[in-house]
Amino acid sequence: MYNGGALIMRRHLISLNDLSYADLCQIIQRSTDFSKGNVEIQQLLVGQIIGIYFKKTSTRTRTAFSAAALRMGAQIISYGPNDLQINTGETIEDTTNVLSGMLDCLVARTAGEWSEMQMFASQNKMSVINAMSADEHPTQALADLTTIKNHFGKIENIKVLYFGEGNNTAAALALALTKFPGAELHLRTPQGYGLKPEILQAAQQYAQISSAKIIENHDPFDLPNDIDVIYTTRWETTGTSKEDPCWKERFQPFMVTSRLMDSYSSAVFMHDLPAHRGEEVEADVLDGPASIAFVQAKNKMYSAMAAMEWCLSSSSN
Ligand code: CP
Repeated sequence: MYNGGALIMRRHLISLNDLSYADLCQIIQRSTDFSKGNVEIQQLLVGQIIGIYFKKTSTRTRTAFSAAALRMGAQIISYGPNDLQINTGETIEDTTNVLSGMLDCLVARTAGEWSEMQMFASQNKMSVINAMSADEHPTQALADLTTIKNHFGKIENIKVLYFGEGNNTAAALALALTKFPGAELHLRTPQGYGLKPEILQAAQQYAQISSAKIIENHDPFDLPNDIDVIYTTRWETTGTSKEDPCWKERFQPFMVTSRLMDSYSSAVFMHDLPAHRGEEVEADVLDGPASIAFVQAKNKMYSAMAAMEWCLSSSSN
């Protein structure tokens, strides 16, 4: 966007693959500072106009970005699934061309093809933040790492056991956590529902550089000795169904139970929410003393603040 004659180049946050370790640390540090009330936030985004476009349902992410923008002094324009002319056949390229002349940042949940998110980010006049696509949920991982850092005082050397589908939340967690030295991500996913090979490969490369570990297998009874965090997500991401009529039988052994939690007496429980008690997690676990899932949900607002600030701290040409 032209601003006082200077061309402002905006940054995007589309995938954690695009963030260096230094950028990731900076965003997480800022997010933890926001969560502790250490920063005067009211003026940080004054004058910015943020579009919030959610093609799919959301309780946390949409509210987190809207509340964060308003608390930081920005103004927002909110678009639900039926509001943009994309619905009547206008192309995403034309939509982006128009919105980037008027908005400073677009927070978008497409939950569709990766190319859709990339098309939104095919310009640099307006920042684009991926608020969840089918492949990756990067801002969820920012909230997750903020929660881990606040709870343990560090992310390095933290060991996470992830139970359930290798979905977009798991993908983001894998791409983020493996950048931290000594961190370990142990995924136990049902056969046929693991991480996409390209995500696993990228995370393995990050792990090699940082001396982290990522290990995926499909046996819920093959468990590591020592774990700090047990993490799960809903089995039907954004309510999507699975083709296999017997899929629930495959997922059943991957439920996080009190018995599993008892195997790791000092571990905390995390969940990106929304939850289905009695499916991916027992109610006693989600609502129990080891659960930090609702703190994690609140941290989505602080990580949204950090993400928008990072994107909009643009350089002039
Ligand atoms: N965790 C998460 O993304 O929640 P919402 O779908 O409610 O935004």
